[in-house]
Amino acid sequence: MKQDIDQILFSEQELAHTVQYLGKQISADYEGKNLLLVSVLKGAVVFMTDLMRAITIPCAIDFMAVSSYSGTKSRGEVQILKDLGMPLEGYDVLIVEDILDSGRTLHYLMGVLEQRRPKSIRICTLFDKPEARVEPVQADYVGMIVPNAFIVGYGLDYNEKYRNLPYIGILKPEVYGG
Ligand code: IMP
Ligand code: MG
Repeated sequence: MKQDIDQILFSEQELAHTVQYLGKQISADYEGKNLLLVSVLKGAVVFMTDLMRAITIPCAIDFMAVSSYSGTKSRGEVQILKDLGMPLEGYDVLIVEDILDSGRTLHYLMGVLEQRRPKSIRICTLFDKPEARVEPVQADYVGMIVPNAFIVGYGLDYNEKYRNLPYIGILKPEVYGG
């Protein structure tokens, strides 16, 4: 896998530091609330498992799978592949996403989840690529701003590969024929 990486953008230590920081902020903001972390499969799974352990207040978790990506290009349509297993009423929902890119996924997801009447709903994304935004979505918690390049590792894939890299790397353009 290593030979396909152009540059390491964030090391394991930098990621751990950012996740700890987000966990502290969320724990303070949601003290006394009914926190439910909703993670978006599969990309956010690594972030989710680290983030939930950095959160020091009680919280419930659930997962949902949506797809809008194939390869490195967003197709523009969003589909629910796996829905949540519980109703959202009474919960302060925090969507946990790996990366906010065009914003299509989260724009769609916010619309769907808001209809289920949670007490509140906010977004936590580890990475934000503001330059790529198509839909007007803003995250309430952002780990790091990233350039408009294709990144992999720490859950993020290219055609289902590289999710298990412990750091974030920029893929060599020749790997995806760019
Ligand atoms: P959006 O709907 O365009 O905001 O895309 C969000 C989803 O696209 C994320 O949840 C990722 O799964 C995927 N994605 C966007 N940019 C990247 C990237 O640089 N590397 C890997 N996956 C990405
Ligand atoms: Mg994703």
